[in-house]
Amino acid sequence: MRFTFVTLFPKLIQEYFSDSILGRAVNEGKIRIDYRNPRDYTKDRHNRVDAPMIGGGAGMLMTPQPLMDMLRNLKETSPKAHIVFLTPVAKRFTQNDAKRLSNMEHVVLVSGRYEGIDERVIEANADEVFSIGDYILTGGELASMVLCDAISRNVEGVLGNANSLEVESFESPLLEAPSFTKPNIYEDNAVISEFLKGNHSKVTDLKRGLALCKTKYFRPDLYKKGITDEK
Ligand code: ADE
Repeated sequence: MRFTFVTLFPKLIQEYFSDSILGRAVNEGKIRIDYRNPRDYTKDRHNRVDAPMIGGGAGMLMTPQPLMDMLRNLKETSPKAHIVFLTPVAKRFTQNDAKRLSNMEHVVLVSGRYEGIDERVIEANADEVFSIGDYILTGGELASMVLCDAISRNVEGVLGNANSLEVESFESPLLEAPSFTKPNIYEDNAVISEFLKGNHSKVTDLKRGLALCKTKYFRPDLYKKGITDEK
């Protein structure tokens, strides 16, 4: 699967995808990542890619020409590219979206900077528009990295153990139960003793109870949905 980051600041992103699980996925060719910088397409004689908002408003917006020319060129060379814009003014990105988009051949993640992007660019090009949460970031780069990470781990072969996709929070309607590792006792805190006894069905029951508690406490909205879905 291919990702293209459209960003004025590719360096902010590059390091994250050159190490650990996703770095390995890139090296093994499971995912491919490339970058397009709108500044390379500007026809402005001062190389500008931003301008003040028309009609007033604080701050600058990314102008249409560099982004439009770049996206036109990208679509010509990759007609199946699925173009995604990151902005706080959008539907919230979810695990279901991550799974769905992992079946695409090529996802293009367009990050806004300054106060955002001229709306005509979004209207003309967006296949989808996502927000990652109800807060405002200084730019879309972090949001586009969040999408790329969450999508990539659903691409076959990216995670070593395919099972690890199955039991995770958001794959089921409940948050995950707490997990423990060695040592059995750490600074007087013992692992739940039932976990040590090797009775798998008992551990499964216990984990489900704990998952219910966590979900009810942290995410009453998911808890309610989980209970309704099970009926
Ligand atoms: N750009 C700025 N804030 C954002 C958010 N919450 N989600 C996606 N893109 C953004």
